[in-house]
Amino acid sequence: MRRYLYPWSKSGIKVFDSDVLVLGSGIAGLYTAIKASENFQVTVLTKKTIEESNTEHAQGGIAVAIDQSDSPTFHLEDTLRAGAGLCDPAVVRILVEEGPVCVEELMGMGTQFDRHNGELALTQEGAHSQRRILHALGDATGWEIERALVAKAKESPNVSAFEGCFLIDLLEDYKGDIVGALVLNEETGELEGHLANAIVLATGGLGQVYRFTTNPNVATGDGMAVAFRAGADLMDMEFVQFHPTALLIPNAPRFLISEAVRGEGAHLINATGLRFMENVEGKELAPRDIVARAIWQEMNQGAVYLDFRPVGREKILKRFPKIYETCLKYGVDVLTTPLPVAPAAHYMMGGIATNSYGETNLPHLYAAGECACNGVHGANRLASNSLLDGLVFGARIVKKIGEKIEAKRPSWENVLSPEGSLNGTGLNGPIKQFEGQGLRTRIKDLMWDTVAILRDEPGLRKARELLIAWEQEDLSLRSIEDIETANMLTVGVAIAKAAYDRKESRGGHFRSDYPLRLDELWQKHSLQRKEGNHVCYVPVSGTD
Ligand code: SIN
Repeated sequence: MRRYLYPWSKSGIKVFDSDVLVLGSGIAGLYTAIKASENFQVTVLTKKTIEESNTEHAQGGIAVAIDQSDSPTFHLEDTLRAGAGLCDPAVVRILVEEGPVCVEELMGMGTQFDRHNGELALTQEGAHSQRRILHALGDATGWEIERALVAKAKESPNVSAFEGCFLIDLLEDYKGDIVGALVLNEETGELEGHLANAIVLATGGLGQVYRFTTNPNVATGDGMAVAFRAGADLMDMEFVQFHPTALLIPNAPRFLISEAVRGEGAHLINATGLRFMENVEGKELAPRDIVARAIWQEMNQGAVYLDFRPVGREKILKRFPKIYETCLKYGVDVLTTPLPVAPAAHYMMGGIATNSYGETNLPHLYAAGECACNGVHGANRLASNSLLDGLVFGARIVKKIGEKIEAKRPSWENVLSPEGSLNGTGLNGPIKQFEGQGLRTRIKDLMWDTVAILRDEPGLRKARELLIAWEQEDLSLRSIEDIETANMLTVGVAIAKAAYDRKESRGGHFRSDYPLRLDELWQKHSLQRKEGNHVCYVPVSGTD
């Protein structure tokens, strides 16, 4: 695999520097940036607009053990159970114990969660033993968090945020330290070098690798692919979460229908009106992987519907205004009519391998949020743990940066460059129209058909071979979308390889040819290194 996606040269590139460079502006990126700005000069670069991220689309909420009847230990137990033997317990303990303080701080930064009689309102979601999900504006929790964090970041004199900055590759110096990022500024069409003492990838997920996803267009796995090219390890890439209930209406996007709808009492029914989850442990609130597979199998017989009516009119309108309006726009009044739903790619449990301080195997490179993997989610993330993950491990990155940061900023002279033909103008001149839609569609279709909810050897072999062959083709990189597509191939290969090699079923990874969970053989994390073409394994650890 190439170190850099395409040749570039150091001369003529505009160079910027700061103490901390954060790539991505979802909850992990902005929270990390805001906290780091208390002591450091921080630059935030974001691919599209600052609001555009998976966070903005989060509906259900943020899980946190704050109720008197709840405890971090209950939250830990639920997380471990959902994670199907692949969570690192010590990391989960950090999540559940440090979570409440971070949520408090998030509220201090201006996030307003819904309240009932003056108290924070808590809802229920799948595989939680307690009502512990905070939500905002009914079903627009992510939107509210993003609103507050963007406002807070804009207010901070130490945060400079730039939109339309597409991350192409990480920069390193002669010692092999990561010292910054090579970025394409969409407005000027020029390459920029952003140097910093600490670089935090918070670039989010990769749902766009699949034909059907709840994720926005920006979720193309860029951070994971860029980190991998630079030599960072990827962990647990076979574990992709498929959300059980996305809207299934012709010509409508696979809009997320929050698990909280089932948490408030909605039923899953099949085409004959049968409540097919009734005899499964946990019913509609079983762990996500179980519900998604049950729906998938039921869909062989016919359509599956989410029946909101048991929730009741008043609660539907109060708790789920956005879902209600969206469904109405696509012709379904959920007050009266069951809604057709289907699973869709939703969340990546795997990602850039880090410890519990967000440190990767590359000096000065940190990763937080969905692009990172520290073992907290195991094989299947517990609902609404992802926003909490972004806060807790973002805060720990800031702590570690504080301990480790060097006074001297990296210099452009020491940046290693490939021998290249470009002189600072991006993408062989001005940004071109995206012409690679054909390849992108082929990737998405192949991933959906062979590396999605049910997997088997022939399908995975085909996916692995085709994706590797496509990756080795001389891709034309004429537009940002072309680079995204190259990144999608890189992460697609990593998912297919890890899924092919794991010959068991666990959490989000289900093999119809190996349907059992085999702890003795497979209770271990997969790890992929750039050097060495195969997937290796590391134990699930209880310590850090
Ligand atoms: C949902 O509201 O169902 C999504 C929340 C999550 O992904 O944890």
